Amino acid sequence: MQNKLKEVINILQQANYIVAFTGAGISAESGIPTFRGKGGIWDKYDPIILEIDYFKNNPDKAWPHIKDMFYNVIDKAQPNPAHFVLSDWEKQGKLKAVITQNIDNLHQKAGSQNVIEFHGNTRNLICMQCQKITPVAQADMTQNPVICPHCGGLLKPDFVFFGEPIPPKAYQDAFAHTLQSDVYLVIGTTGIIMPASLLPYEARKNGAHIIEINVSPSNYTHSINPYFLQGKASKVLSELNQKLNGH
Ligand code: APR
Repeated sequence: MQNKLKEVINILQQANYIVAFTGAGISAESGIPTFRGKGGIWDKYDPIILEIDYFKNNPDKAWPHIKDMFYNVIDKAQPNPAHFVLSDWEKQGKLKAVITQNIDNLHQKAGSQNVIEFHGNTRNLICMQCQKITPVAQADMTQNPVICPHCGGLLKPDFVFFGEPIPPKAYQDAFAHTLQSDVYLVIGTTGIIMPASLLPYEARKNGAHIIEINVSPSNYTHSINPYFLQGKASKVLSELNQKLNGH
């Protein structure tokens, strides 16, 4: 086994407070396109669709694309081995939290309990008039735009649009877990979008070991000196799990 891998296994074995920070790359093998890179969402759609002011002023233009980008893809997607390994490590008491930029609910579907959704979720919609929350399952998603069943106002996905703040509780919890971590897994993220992308830097500053899993280098790879394990998240995490738990 290469020395680096031996070191990583040793770090994981000694860890007291592992936190996983995940991006779109962990769900790529579940059939959910990433945002950037070949065939990414931003190759097909203009990010303006997810600008909050554009959405407010052009809901009938934005909603059809949002359904294609997310709702029509996510409900068919299933967790892949990467999600299940993180869920197993939580059950073993090794991994304390998953902080995810993803809105696909796959960590929860894989059984992870402590999931901090830094960018919200696709399970619910929120009314821009009465603020009431409507689960997607109870909304009429055939409408364009999708309307609040309570007041007839415009419904917006309950995930963070560009120009919107991060949900305060998610922000606080994410930073709190990050500052308690002694091992920080950075999985499948370019590290471009603030303030989420600050979290691994905070972990590093706080002395955590950074283990990055990605198919290609990211903003972190040459800046916070991680143990960089190049490869698909499901393959790398399954191998680490095999070496840690012998199965
Ligand atoms: N295994 C591991 N990493 C992968 C895999 C894979 N199978 N496939 C792709 N990747 C990596 C890519 O190399 C890239 O670094 O996943 C990352 C995907 O990057 P982005 O698409 O930019 O996703 P992410 O970093 O999560 O984007 C952050 O940007 O548009 C916003 O709000 C959106 O949450 C999103 C944020």
